[in-house]
This record gives sequence, C-alpha cells and structure tokens, in this order.
Amino acid sequence: MKKDISGRRDIELLIDNFYEKVRADSTLSEFFHDVAWDKHLAVMYAFWENALFFTGGYSGNPMATHRRIHQRHPLKRRDFNRWLGLFSETLDEMYSGEIAELARKRAASIAEIMQKKILTRST
Ligand code: HEM
Repeated sequence: MKKDISGRRDIELLIDNFYEKVRADSTLSEFFHDVAWDKHLAVMYAFWENALFFTGGYSGNPMATHRRIHQRHPLKRRDFNRWLGLFSETLDEMYSGEIAELARKRAASIAEIMQKKILTRST
C-alpha cells in the first residue's frame, strides 16, 4: 500500500515528478519555456508545503502570476484540465491518504478559482 504525503521531502518528490510530466506534455510545456526551473521548483515546494502543512513559507500571489501568463499566452479550460489530470495521476502513482486527497482537492479548487478569475467565457 502507498504511503501518505508526510512532509517536505514527499512534496519535493511529488512536485519533481509532476513537472517532469508537464515538461513532457506538448501543450503545457509551451507555458514553461522561459521558466527558471530551480527557482520555480523551490517556489512550488514552499507553496505546497504551506498549502498542506500550513508552514507559512510561501508568500507569493498565484492569481497575479497566472493572470500575467494568460496575457502573454492565453490559458484555456483544456489546459487546466490537462494540468489537473497530470497532477492527479502523479498523486495516484505515488501516495494515498488524507493529505494526498487534500492536495487533489486544493489543486482542483485553486484551478476553479483561477478559471473564474482569469478566463473569459470564450476561452
Ligand atoms: C493551465 C494550467 C497552468 C499552467 C499552464 C501554469 C503555469 C505556470 C507558470 C508558467 C508559472 C510561472 C513559473 C515561473 O515563471 O517561475 C506558474 C507558477 C505557479 N503556479 Fe501555475 N500553472 C497552471 C495551473 C496552476 C494551478 C491549478 C495551480 C494551483 C495549485 C498553480 C500554482 C502555481 C503557483 C503557486 C505558482 C507560483 C506563483 C508565484 O508565486 O509567482 N498553477 N504556473
């Protein structure tokens, strides 16, 4: 049986595996061409550690970041669905338990809010 996410190291492995899938995806990888990976991964570890274990180590503004991304390169509903599909698939491959389910729900609800705030009806 798979174990649950229990701390920072588990989050780092989850995020590394997830972004490997994103980088291998022909559509999603387009959004990440200019990204400084070491920096992005460090931000994502802190974001998820804070989201799941309330460590207070993240102080960015994901809505503003994705609004800026959308202006340069429009985000579509199917991009969010693909992102969530890969995130969920990575969780299923690696972990099982309450915190893993919390991560799945948190990702889905943030994606929902992003789409409401950022996308227009035509996208
Ligand atoms: C279509 C779906 C998505 C795409 C294409 C996408 C793409 C990106 C890109 C290109 C960056 C900037 C990386 C950089 O320049 O360092 C970023 C940052 C980030 N993304 Fe996403 N993203 C998506 C959905 C999500 C979702 C659903 C979440 C929620 C968990 C999320 C969380 C974040 C966070 C926390 C950051 C860092 C924001 C900051 O502090 O500036 N993303 N994303």
